[in-house]
Amino acid sequence: MVERVTGAVRRHPWRLGAVAVVLVALAGAAFLGRDVISLWLSPDEPVDVTLPVVAPLEAAGGRTVYLVDPERSRATVEVDELLAGAQRTARLTTQGIAGSVAVDPSDAAGSQVGEIAVNVHQLRSDNALRDKAIRHDGLESHRYPEVRLRNAAVEGLSGPVRDGRAQDLTIRGDLTAHGVTKPVVFAGSARLAGDTLQAEVSTTLRMSDHDIGPISKIGLVRTGDDVRVQLRLVAVDRTTFSPPAQLALAATRDDTPRSADGPSFRKEVAPILATNCAGCHQPGQVGAPHWKLADAGDAAEVADGLALVTASRYMPPWPASDAGIPLQHVRKLTDAQIDTLRAWAKAGGALDVEPSTKVTAPVEPEVTVPRADVTLRSAEPYRGSTAVRDDYRCFLLDPKFTEERFVTGTTFTPDEVEIVHHALVYRQPAATRARLDAADAEAPGAGWPCSAGMGTGAGGDLVGGWVPGQRPQDFGEGVGYRFGPGDVLVAQIHYHYETVAPPDASTMTLEVAPPGEKVTALRTRELVGPVEIPCPAGSTEPLCDRGAALADVGTRFGPGGAMIADALHRFCRTTPAQVAAASDGTTGRTTCDYRVRDEGDIVDVLGHMHTLGATYRMTLNPGTPQEKVLLDIPRWDFSWQLNYQPVDPVPVTRADTIRVECSWDRSVDPGRPLRYLVFAEGTEDEMCFSTVTVRPRSGP
Ligand code: HEC
Repeated sequence: MVERVTGAVRRHPWRLGAVAVVLVALAGAAFLGRDVISLWLSPDEPVDVTLPVVAPLEAAGGRTVYLVDPERSRATVEVDELLAGAQRTARLTTQGIAGSVAVDPSDAAGSQVGEIAVNVHQLRSDNALRDKAIRHDGLESHRYPEVRLRNAAVEGLSGPVRDGRAQDLTIRGDLTAHGVTKPVVFAGSARLAGDTLQAEVSTTLRMSDHDIGPISKIGLVRTGDDVRVQLRLVAVDRTTFSPPAQLALAATRDDTPRSADGPSFRKEVAPILATNCAGCHQPGQVGAPHWKLADAGDAAEVADGLALVTASRYMPPWPASDAGIPLQHVRKLTDAQIDTLRAWAKAGGALDVEPSTKVTAPVEPEVTVPRADVTLRSAEPYRGSTAVRDDYRCFLLDPKFTEERFVTGTTFTPDEVEIVHHALVYRQPAATRARLDAADAEAPGAGWPCSAGMGTGAGGDLVGGWVPGQRPQDFGEGVGYRFGPGDVLVAQIHYHYETVAPPDASTMTLEVAPPGEKVTALRTRELVGPVEIPCPAGSTEPLCDRGAALADVGTRFGPGGAMIADALHRFCRTTPAQVAAASDGTTGRTTCDYRVRDEGDIVDVLGHMHTLGATYRMTLNPGTPQEKVLLDIPRWDFSWQLNYQPVDPVPVTRADTIRVECSWDRSVDPGRPLRYLVFAEGTEDEMCFSTVTVRPRSGP
């Protein structure tokens, strides 16, 4: 939620509004779910203990039917992962299993495996954060609570069944997980002893085959694609046994001893959380659905998780490194603060205050709030649908300027915080109006779909936006974006729907300088680099051919869209072959140098790539004694694309050079169909894109 501060407004020569951030993502859907580990982190998560319902096999033709006993059975899933920098194996288990097996004692070959269902909503490991990532973001167990094996055929058994003797077997069938059905082969052994059948079978699946993963939360957790699945089943003769309808509730995990040896919550931990986390995690704020921080108890409950998200620097979100020039509003914990949280968690998250003691964010006295001279919103609220999980929607906002005006500050206020993922608001020249109106008229409902760009062909100045934690933007005394008569705004809003899709009526307000007031017009320039990431050697996918990939871009974005890829090489004096040579088919990198065009002071920088981005860097006068890294992002995160403002505006002249460098890594999304990647706007394309905003030293 945008901070709304009504106190004294203090002006600074340059302030992008005491702003920490403006998220800027162009088109491209986040392929990761944005939801939250909180399911686990919240203390009151309901645990679904019901067992899946399956129709058991019939005891026909001399066969005995055995029903799975969940109390003695177990499904285990193993995934290799990098969790907060450490390589481990995640082992998740559940006992929520139902199913039946029919055995013909005279001829084992006639045995049958009935439908087997596993409740994956109950999968648990030793780490709450990871369970959540795998269950909630990957398996989406709230939507697909069960995994089912159907049409199973048993192979490898023969002869009469001998009591107590194990036989090797193979089970072939169709496995439905996450709504996707694929053939599966389990191998293992089975043994009948008295009225009890025991079987242990295993297989390896690929998460990407079922659209489950790999799961990646930049810097926090990243899993491999292979999942080793093991079923240990104990089934009992149905004439002597009926399975329970529910599992006994598993013992609570919170058995860590709490000791008073760690840092004091009151004196050391609470101040860190209050200053660095509460702003986004207090009830009603953007991070609260993910982890609510109202009082000391909320922190103690998940002490371990807090140590993990801070040690990995997943939280607070701040992708820029210290390699660059000092930036404003840095949101980063010091090593000492991280150590304090770690030590506190290790001591069991002990509290030296009542759990109900409030943890509140300190009031920031110096937040500048732009005036709301013009309020803009879509004529009617936008109604999306949970059927489209990531929905990019554009809205035309008309400030109805009839003469030249300067916008000196903006505030975007999301209406439905639960579904507004981020917003970008661009100035568009009056000449694009007809095309925008046409796009709007063509699409039913408010706005129009714009996952592949706004449909104007032009970029336009980015004048505002919103990302969780965003504050209003005040461009500073006498500084603003110039609007000609008839110029409009286009807001691109990324909605992410989880379970609800309430109508959204987000608003944008503008602070507009009075007509005739002297305002220096900001100059925002786009610096772009080519993208050339061929497929790995030996790939045969049709779109792995560069020509075919370009033609495909042309089909999606028109001939202009396809020409950008080659045009960029002319700007950057590179060739496709040269840039492609830096790629091994999985990773790629690019660079491009630009001569500075506007004399003045750099007041804002931004880097942008899509979801395969790995690193980003922008450098002033590289390789010279005057070299200055303007922005360094060592771990690209599509979810946290911020605008950054230097503490001291950086003076530049036309003699200066700015270099942009981008790198990518396909391995963050190995399930994605292979294609030769070139610069384009779509979700599955990539970009190396930057903006540099200069406040000219003289003149409008
Ligand atoms: C700028 C706002 C912001 C700040 C500051 C912030 N968070 Fe978050 N936090 C979020 C958002 C948004 C999410 C959900 C993002 C996601 O994981 O998809 C989140 C998620 C989390 C989660 C759940 C992990 C997950 O992936 O769902 C934890 C735990 C957390 N934050 C702890 C902290 C702690 C501890 C701090 C302070 C040291 C902090 N946060 C600071 C916005 C913030």
